[in-house]
Amino acid sequence: MTNQTNRKAAWDRLAELPRRTLADLFAGDPDRVAKFSQRIEADLGELGQVGMLLDWSKTHLDDDLLAAFEELAEAAGFAAAREALFGGGIVNPTEGRAATHGAMRGSGTDADVEEAEALLARMGLLVEAVHAGALGEINHLIHIGIGGSALGPALAIDALTRDLKLVDVHVVSNIDGLALEQAFAACDPQTTLIAVASKTFTTTETMTNAASALKWLGENGVDDPSGRLIALTANPTGAVEWGVDETRILPFPESVGGRYSLWSSIGFPVALAVGMQDFRAMLAGAQVIDTHFREAEGRANSPLLAAFGDLYYTRLRGCQTRAVFAYDERLGLLPDYLQQLEMESNGKRASTDGHRVDQPTAPVTWGGVGTDAQHAVFQLLHQGTHLIPVDFIASIAPGDDLDPAHHRNLLMNCLAQGAALMAGKASDDLARDYPGDRPSAMFLIDDLDAATFGALIAFHEHRTFANAVMMGINPFDQFGVELGKAMAKSIGSGEGEFDPSTAVLMQAAGLRG
Ligand code: F6P
Repeated sequence: MTNQTNRKAAWDRLAELPRRTLADLFAGDPDRVAKFSQRIEADLGELGQVGMLLDWSKTHLDDDLLAAFEELAEAAGFAAAREALFGGGIVNPTEGRAATHGAMRGSGTDADVEEAEALLARMGLLVEAVHAGALGEINHLIHIGIGGSALGPALAIDALTRDLKLVDVHVVSNIDGLALEQAFAACDPQTTLIAVASKTFTTTETMTNAASALKWLGENGVDDPSGRLIALTANPTGAVEWGVDETRILPFPESVGGRYSLWSSIGFPVALAVGMQDFRAMLAGAQVIDTHFREAEGRANSPLLAAFGDLYYTRLRGCQTRAVFAYDERLGLLPDYLQQLEMESNGKRASTDGHRVDQPTAPVTWGGVGTDAQHAVFQLLHQGTHLIPVDFIASIAPGDDLDPAHHRNLLMNCLAQGAALMAGKASDDLARDYPGDRPSAMFLIDDLDAATFGALIAFHEHRTFANAVMMGINPFDQFGVELGKAMAKSIGSGEGEFDPSTAVLMQAAGLRG
């Protein structure tokens, strides 16, 4: 049987399995919580520790489903794909590339890890030079990038700089000049560095913002604005041509994808804000998950188990979205980050062997922070007509120094939501009836330190990869973003024919005379 036939047979088996309610699943298995939860922990010495409890018991996965999903993983060649990922194989066939983000944190071939280490050492030298004042007094960094060149740094800085921020960082992504103006308003040009973060060094938004930032420095009394530029890129030649001094370029390998690039020099602003030690801790925490993902088999492999749950809801229960709620202000940008990671990676309809995928691929990822979201969107989760699997993320240790009542309340609410979604509450009055049987998973971390943060992000990278392998798609390309870019260019150049609606709008917006 071919790989595709095997996979189809596994899906057919999965589709035939009976559906049981969460109440039945708990009633039928006294060991359910132990079976469906796992603690991942590691002591990283001076880099801190990773500690998190993952609980999938409030999802509809059961032993039969897990066995069938394990067969699916086998039919899809999961073990070989995983080895190819860490072994530098071509896991991105449409672009003929490996995906070596793991090597940036020590998980990859010797050659890839060695190259990554040299690049990080170079980044470390620049970070330390800035901290030591070798570039003059530097208090601010405007980090200009978009998509994968911005979302990771913005999230990491929010997550990790509550106690200490060595340099004030502003991440600017949008081409809407308002975004850059806001950063200018918050920075003193005399003490500001500009980081231009772009894998390709061609992205319109980033290059336009970078040019305006240089102009701002020049117009505000900085003698040598180019001397304040740092490029974070996989295209160093492009950066030199653009005018960046070769000594201020922090390259990263082409085989590190944009949405997987936080670990590379794209993480420079994070290192600058939190220091190299914490940046290294973030990498080490991610490596803990790499090792777990590489070594654990079947259901004992947590990112794979999470992917089983994702596929169950997307493909067997017709869920078109999945929601993520962090009960932690520091992770407010996590849903945005996961949106790119999951939707740009797995929002595809072509299989790796060139066929059209005949089942749904990535659901829409969305979410917010608790408890805010409870007072805004949870109505739909509890009583709406859509079934939406939810992930909750919370830290046992508080992020604040206020009265412990704050954190206690935060955790109480987080746990209550998962329990309420599952239990529901019957009422004769339909408006007050909660159907229950609504799934959720929990990531309960010990503390949101740099290592655990790295682990959390790496977990989602591998979950995304595992989903892709079982769906038979390539998570590492993103051709779907190109058509719109090309059309924007032709609108700008005034060339090309457009549909009547767009033509009228172009006229109205002053884009065509
Ligand atoms: O247009 C999508 C995309 O290519 C993303 O994949 C990427 O993260 C982002 O744009 C930014 O690209 P670059 O880092 O090359 O500027």
